Amino acid sequence: MRTIMPTDGFRESMLAGLTRRPRAVPCKYLYDAEGSALFERITELEEYYPTRTEIGLLTDQGGEIAQVVGAGARVVEFGAGSMRKTRLLLAALEAPAAYVPIDVAREPLLLAARRIAQVHPAMAVAPMVADFNHPLVLPPDADGDGPVLGFFPGSTIGNMMPGDARDFLRRVAKLVGPGGRLLVGVDLTKDPHVLETAYDDSQGVTTAFIRNLLARANRELEADFDIRAFDHRAWWNAREGRVEIHLVASRRQAVSVAGRLFAFRRGDTLHVEDCYKYTVEQFRWLARLGGFVPEHVWIDSAQLFSLHMLRRG
Ligand code: SAH
Ligand code: AVI
Repeated sequence: MRTIMPTDGFRESMLAGLTRRPRAVPCKYLYDAEGSALFERITELEEYYPTRTEIGLLTDQGGEIAQVVGAGARVVEFGAGSMRKTRLLLAALEAPAAYVPIDVAREPLLLAARRIAQVHPAMAVAPMVADFNHPLVLPPDADGDGPVLGFFPGSTIGNMMPGDARDFLRRVAKLVGPGGRLLVGVDLTKDPHVLETAYDDSQGVTTAFIRNLLARANRELEADFDIRAFDHRAWWNAREGRVEIHLVASRRQAVSVAGRLFAFRRGDTLHVEDCYKYTVEQFRWLARLGGFVPEHVWIDSAQLFSLHMLRRG
C-alpha cells in the first residue's frame, strides 16, 4: 500500500483566517486525529440523521448501484474518513479493481485504508493524504481499464460554497474520464429545526468537534485559546440555503497564536463551517453545471437524504 503525502498549511490558514473580516477558517482544519474521532461520535448521535440514513440507502440500493457501475471499478473516494460507507459500497460492487481514498486526516486515513486492504486482498489500495479541492490525478496503482467511480458520501459536498462545489465537480468529471461516474450523498433541505438540532446536539459532541479547531491550534501552533470562552452556534441561513456554524467569543479576550496576538470582543465570531442543503432539482442543476448527467437518485422514505448517481457528460 503506497501513500502520497504533502503538507497542510494550518498555521498560514489560521493566521489569515483570524486576520480577515469576517473571521473564517476552512472547515478541513477541523479534521486532525482528534477531530476525526469526534466526527465519528457525531455520526452515532440521535440528532445527526445523515449517516444512518445514507447507510440505509447504500445497504438497500447496493445491488442497483453495482449494476449501474459494472465490474472491475476503480473507486476514488473524497473525504473517506472511517470508510464505514465504503465497506458497504465495495462489498456490493463486482470485483472492484482499485480503491483510492483521499483525505486530509493522515492517521485515520491510513488506519482505515489498511483495514480495507485486509478485507479486499485482490484490490489495489492507494490512500492519498491530500486536499480534494486541489487538482488530482489517479496514482499509478489505480491504472487499468475498469470504469472509474468517484464516491463522495456524507454530504461533504455541502461543506463547499455552491460555486466551489461546481468547480470541484468539474475536476472530478475530468478525473473519472469518459464513462466515469460519481456517487454523491447530498443532505436534503428540510425543517430548519431538524437541521439546527443536527448541528447542536444535546450531549455537546458537535460543540467539542467545532471547538477542536481551537484545541488543535493550542496543540500545534502554540496558541492559548481558552476554548470554553468560545460558544458554538449553528443556525439555518434560509437566504443562502445553509446551516452556518460559528464560534462566538463569550467575553473580551486576547489570544496568542504562533507568536501573534488577536483581540476578540464579546460576540465576535469565527466562521468555521457551512453545511449547504439542496433539493433534488437544485443538486441536479449543480451536477449539470459541473459536467455530469444525473442518472439516478435514491431517497429514503422520510425524504431526509439523497444519493445521486451522476454520469460524466
Ligand atoms: N465520508 C465520511 C466522512 C465524512 S467527514 C462519511 O461520509 O461519514 C468529512 C471527511 O472529509 C473527513 O474525513 C475529513 O478529514 C475529510 N475532508 C474534509 N475536508 C477535506 C479536504 N478539503 N480534502 C480532503 N479531505 C477532506
Ligand atoms: C462532514 N460534513 C458533511 C459534516 C456535515 O454534516 O456538514 C460535518 C459536520 N459538522 C458538524 N456536524 C457534522
